[in-house]
Parts: sequence; C-alpha cells; structure tokens
Amino acid sequence: MNQLPRALQENELYFKDGDPAVVDGYQRRILTGMRPSGVLHLGHYVGALKNWLKFQDQFDSTFLVADLHALADHMDSPEFVRQSVREVVLDWLAVGLNPQKADFIVQTGIPELENLTVLFETLVKLAEHQRNPTLKAEMERMDDKDKTVSFHNYPISQAADILGPMGDLVPAGQDQQPQIELTRNIARRFNARFAPHPSDFSFPLPQIYTGEVGRLVGTDGNDKMSKTLGNTIDLSATPDQIKKKVKDMKSPVKALSDPGVVGGHVVFSYLDAFHDDSVELQVLKEHYVRGGLGEGTLKDMLARDLARLLEPIREKRMEFAKRPDDLEDILRTGTRRTRVRVAETLEHVRSAMGMFQLHDPFDERYSRD
Ligand code: TRP
Repeated sequence: MNQLPRALQENELYFKDGDPAVVDGYQRRILTGMRPSGVLHLGHYVGALKNWLKFQDQFDSTFLVADLHALADHMDSPEFVRQSVREVVLDWLAVGLNPQKADFIVQTGIPELENLTVLFETLVKLAEHQRNPTLKAEMERMDDKDKTVSFHNYPISQAADILGPMGDLVPAGQDQQPQIELTRNIARRFNARFAPHPSDFSFPLPQIYTGEVGRLVGTDGNDKMSKTLGNTIDLSATPDQIKKKVKDMKSPVKALSDPGVVGGHVVFSYLDAFHDDSVELQVLKEHYVRGGLGEGTLKDMLARDLARLLEPIREKRMEFAKRPDDLEDILRTGTRRTRVRVAETLEHVRSAMGMFQLHDPFDERYSRD
C-alpha cells in the first residue's frame, strides 16, 4: 500500500552527517518537537533549533508543539501552556524556521494522534516501558502527587507523533534516544505482526540525529541550561540582559597574571559554541593559559558575540509578535495538512490491526483540503 524503501526499515538508530535526504527516490521526513513551557533559550538553540534549521531545506519537515506533554508537566497551569504555544512558535519563526518549508503543528490539534497512541499502547510491554532511562529519571524527580498516567505514557504518545505523519528522522537531544528506540520497537513490531507482505502498509524505523555540540552548560556552570535552575539566556534577551547574564557567569577568581585553565571554564565553553573565529579563539585560549588575560575581557567578547547572534532574532520576534493572526494561520495550515496524513496512517493501522470497520460519519473532515 505504501512502498517504503527497505533502507528505511533496516537502518541504524543514528542518522549521520552526510546521510542523504532522498533514498531510492523517497523524500525523507523529519518529525520533531518541543514541550511549550515558556520562551526558548540558548540551550534550545544549540541542542535543537540549529539542527532543525540545517535540515529544513532538504527534508520534508514537521515541527510539533507538544502541548499535551507540557500539560502532563504543568497540570495546574493550562493557561501557561496555552500561552507558551505562542511563545515557542514566535521563537521558531525568529530563529528562521520557515513555515513555507515546514509544517508547524500543535499536538492536541490532531486528535488522531491520541487514537494512534492508544493502539500503540497494545504493542508495548509495561516492564519494557518502565525501563526507559529518560522517563525513569524524570519520574524520580517528580513528587508522587504530580505523577499521572498521562506523563507515564508520554513516550508512547511521542511515538505516535513521529509515526503518525510517517516521520523517519528526529533531530533531538541525546536525552530523547530512549524515546526513539521505543518508537523503532513499536514500528518494528507493527511491521512484523501486521505487515507481512511487501505491499502492506508499514512504518519506517525513525533515526535520531543529535548533531555535534549537543548540550550547552548553564550560565552557572551546571550541566544543563534550564529555566527552573535560573541559568538560562533567553533567545529574546536584550543586549543589557545578555550583558548582565554574562557578567554574572561563574568564572575563576585569580590574579590577572596567574595562568588560567580553559577546561571547564564556563565562558570558554560558550565561546566554543558561539565565537565564529576559531583561530582567534585558539590564540585567546593560549593567552589565558599563559596568564595576563582577564575574565572581564573574555566576558565582553562573549557578550558581543551573543548580542550579534541574538539581536536579529529578537527583532524578528518582535515583528512576528505584532501579527498574531499570521501565527494562528501558520499553525492552522500546518496542523491541518499534517492531520490529513495522520488520519490516513490511522486508517491503515486500524484496518491492519483488525479493528471493526464502521463507516466514519465525519469522513468529510479529511477531504476539505
Ligand atoms: N518529548 C519531547 C521533549 O520533551 C517533545 C516531543 C513530543 C517530541 N513529541 C515529539 C520530540 C516527537 C521529538 C519527536 O522535548
């Protein structure tokens, strides 16, 4: 029914730089997403958005705002989640993700994803699910009172997000690896059980792409940049806010002439990520190691680099923020287009899994496009 290239079903977990976007004439599809919980910061940029930007020209791309997953995190503040959907999309537009090239979608705008989640849940053993290290770590950090079935099951909903629109590539952080492995297991099981013939409808095994840099430390040197730790620099930060954050960055207290250590130096780890001139940076590092180069000089340089990167982003964001109707249109268009695809997938899955076939009274919904 669908003729997927075999290569997409016999691939490895990791997508590598240089792997092709078109395989045997088949255009590969990106499906990736984020939970909306406030404005985005530099950690999102380095760990995710940069890679999405790199790929949006070559891949058929869908970027998902995971509002259902955010709700599982912020049960007490649905209003915050709803507002955050806009904030996230504004940040996406501001960094240059392009709705002419990619579909921007809202998770709860496609109820068929939830339907698919429930069917996929029949393919996942509880013990296997509960071994997921990312989920385990997240649940351990949560108070018992905050743990819901919805949160517990979100990795399966994530598999539906990916497979519903037939995504086969997920650029995402390293922490998402277990979810992609789960998605592959679901696809593999579905294919083995319900798609015995080459002409049957079947799923690709999605690959993950984590890119080169991966993770940015927080301004306090903590392993992770996160809003709850208060160690972020927002993509929408003003030059003054940037200066302040950089000034407050943790850096060693030493006499100017003392030799310095570059490894583990927060400011240097940012310069590694954001200073364009690598030769100049190398010279600077050598100077710092010899001694005589002050923390203030480094911080001024970083503040300038970041302002140069973020100023156009902030300006673009302000422009888009003035046109809320456009933002709404972008989400509606992307979500509608993707919904058509997911509805098609769901029909295949229902029929392959042998669900009772009722004439769908709402069928017309899907043919409006
Ligand atoms: N779980 C992801 C996160 O916490 C968000 C997400 C939801 C996602 N669905 C997805 C990521 C599908 C990639 C693909 O950031």
